[in-house]
Amino acid sequence: MKVALAYSGGLDTSVCVHLLQEKYKADVITVSVDVGQDPQELKEIAKKSKQLGAIKHVHVDARKEFVEQYVFRSIKANGLYEGYPLSTALARYPIASKLVEVARRERADAVAHGCTGKGNDQFRFDTTIAIKAPKLKIIAPIRELNLDRKWEIKYAREQGIPVGTGKPYSIDENLWGRSIEGGVLEDPAKAPPEHIYAWTRSPAKAPAKPRVVKIEFKGGIPIALDGKRMGGLELIAKLNKIAGTYGVGRIELIEDRILGLKARENYEAPAAMVLIQAHRALEQLALTKQELAFKQVVDQTWADLAYSGLWFDPLREDLDAFIDSTQNRVTGKIKVELNHGNSRIVGRSSPYSLYDEELVSFERYGFDQRDAIGVIKFHALQSKILRKRKGA
Ligand code: ARG
Repeated sequence: MKVALAYSGGLDTSVCVHLLQEKYKADVITVSVDVGQDPQELKEIAKKSKQLGAIKHVHVDARKEFVEQYVFRSIKANGLYEGYPLSTALARYPIASKLVEVARRERADAVAHGCTGKGNDQFRFDTTIAIKAPKLKIIAPIRELNLDRKWEIKYAREQGIPVGTGKPYSIDENLWGRSIEGGVLEDPAKAPPEHIYAWTRSPAKAPAKPRVVKIEFKGGIPIALDGKRMGGLELIAKLNKIAGTYGVGRIELIEDRILGLKARENYEAPAAMVLIQAHRALEQLALTKQELAFKQVVDQTWADLAYSGLWFDPLREDLDAFIDSTQNRVTGKIKVELNHGNSRIVGRSSPYSLYDEELVSFERYGFDQRDAIGVIKFHALQSKILRKRKGA
């Protein structure tokens, strides 16, 4: 049997290579998909795969597709699930899609992934695989053999599989964010230790003086940083560095997983948090009150679908069609001040701005204020009638 395994080089998937060989008697093809994770780690993946005895390693660069098809859509949808910018969630769809493509090309009998039976990733992987290749067998050794992390670490040591830092964390990383789970983090009463962070400085150790970054959007998509035009990949990578230096983008959550479990989750997502905040700020300026209220509901549903493994539900595309139709006017410039872990909007402008300084100003004439009197006479009209009926 030939199996294509989604391989990250981490503990879980390294253990999977051996399990597939030993317990499933399979030849393993490891597949790594670049969605903007640490390039150093990616470099070592092919070597690791060979050491573990895989018959082949295939690397796919999906960064452009990840940014343009997933991250940009998420920015337009202000994609947040319970405050989490969906970084891991969004990346699972292109990873699973590429895995299927490689499995087909290599004529593999099955695909495999390192998900446990407790998390959300299994929903995203399995649904994507089943939609793209309904007949392809899915093997998830850790879930099927009902293994836990302690067992994995012991097994890895016995089998001579490198266990990395030896820290008990499950870390997932891509351009849009870094997820850290496990170990001491599983006690929600305990503070996340400083050593879990890799992208953000402690806010206490951030530069003394705040820094203002300028982000320009066109059609809801960021196109320039500090006045310099650049592609999404570069812009997000740069902003991760800058905002991370200022301690911005640390997130701690009790998150409701798809299975219903509440989980203690920690994330670092400096660029994602700043870009979503800036995008929202621009929408407030350019969209009508009615659009904003309705879009909030749409955005929420969009994030639920992306989180829950339902990316391929036609509703997601329907929502994207609505979102896209609002985004033509989400064009303009936003200034964000970064300061010791905080990010604050300090300036916004747009050619489609609905803000009218002349009308709203305390200092200018704008319109005849007496015109408001007539409008107010009819405001709360039904409440006024009801009171009269009650004789109050
Ligand atoms: N709770 C997040 C999600 O479901 C993060 C999952 C992180 N995955 C991991 N293997 N560490 O999207």
